[in-house]
Amino acid sequence: MSIPGPAAPSGPAIETRGLTKTFGAQTAVGNLDLSVPAGSVFGFLGPNGSGKTTTIRMLLGLITASSGEASVLGREMPARLDSVLPRVGTLVEGPAFYPFLSGRANLARLDSADRHASPSTRKSRVQVALERVGLEAAARKKVKAYSLGMKQRLGLANALLQPRELLILDEPTNGLDPQGTREVRSLVQSLAAGGTTIFVSSHLLAEVEQICTHAAIMRNGSLVAQGTLGELRAGGRARATVLTPDAGAALAVLSHLGLVPDTGHPVPGPSGAQHLNAWLPEVAAPEPEEIVAALVSARVRVRGFSVDAESLENRFVELTGSGFNVAQ
Ligand SMILES: Nc1ncnc2c1ncn2[C@@H]1O[C@H](COP(=O)(O)OP(=O)(O)O)[C@@H](O)[C@H]1O
Ligand SMILES: [Mg+2]
Repeated sequence: MSIPGPAAPSGPAIETRGLTKTFGAQTAVGNLDLSVPAGSVFGFLGPNGSGKTTTIRMLLGLITASSGEASVLGREMPARLDSVLPRVGTLVEGPAFYPFLSGRANLARLDSADRHASPSTRKSRVQVALERVGLEAAARKKVKAYSLGMKQRLGLANALLQPRELLILDEPTNGLDPQGTREVRSLVQSLAAGGTTIFVSSHLLAEVEQICTHAAIMRNGSLVAQGTLGELRAGGRARATVLTPDAGAALAVLSHLGLVPDTGHPVPGPSGAQHLNAWLPEVAAPEPEEIVAALVSARVRVRGFSVDAESLENRFVELTGSGFNVAQ
């Protein structure tokens, strides 16, 4: 069963200007300019500790910004909190539930705390939300017996109790297994198809890349890139990979051609060979056949060669300077 969403608003769904939050000497979020188009599925990406949750807390008025401005659904936050929050479904890190109540009872309580929610339709609203997140079988269990993934689903169900114009989901796949992650992805897609704008944070690019239309990438509290997925990918460069036992000679040739060796992670290959990676120059990049010809004429034994367009994941690693954290 699908919950019809209201018509998409015009103008950006979320906009921030110079948004900053400091904790003592530490800048958790610095000078952030975000623009989240209405109707987008916007991935808010970055390694752990890069400032995603802090940003979301500021957007929702859960903490006050040290400086800067934010608007949500065209209204200034936190000044217009009361009129904005009923239009926004949220899942923020560590949702608070009553451990001795069942999942269903917790949702009913949260629903009753919403003065815009009619009590006469509460039961069916709760039931539909439980079904949408695949929690109906565990709905009668006490929340203290829930796994992290089940709590995460309950948090999502809470965000879905009412049709919303905007969903702000902080790491919604946290604690979910691959099946649960797929379910959240398809849920997000079906909500987006109904016109809801979705702002979803993650430290796992691969989990959200498939469903996002736009993304912003955070590093150490600063925005390092934002745009459509196409724009973000286009910002990246192509990369050549050579499999050879003659690493030294190959690196010399690649450097001579203007490629920039990525010496950080040489990957051992079979029988003493190494996979060497090198970025192609953005301007006047040599053709793959020129690279291979140069390697061969320098007597480099080329056992494998490929040129790959930048993946968003490589781009992310390049921009954040850190690999993706493996799933926690
Ligand atoms: N209440 C707080 N007090 C002090 N430091 C905090 C607080 N909340 C977050 N931080 C710090 O701010 C930085 C960003 O944290 P956070 O926004 O939670 O990152 P993310 O959600 O991207 O993992 C981290 O270094 C974190 O330790
Ligand atoms: Mg976080």
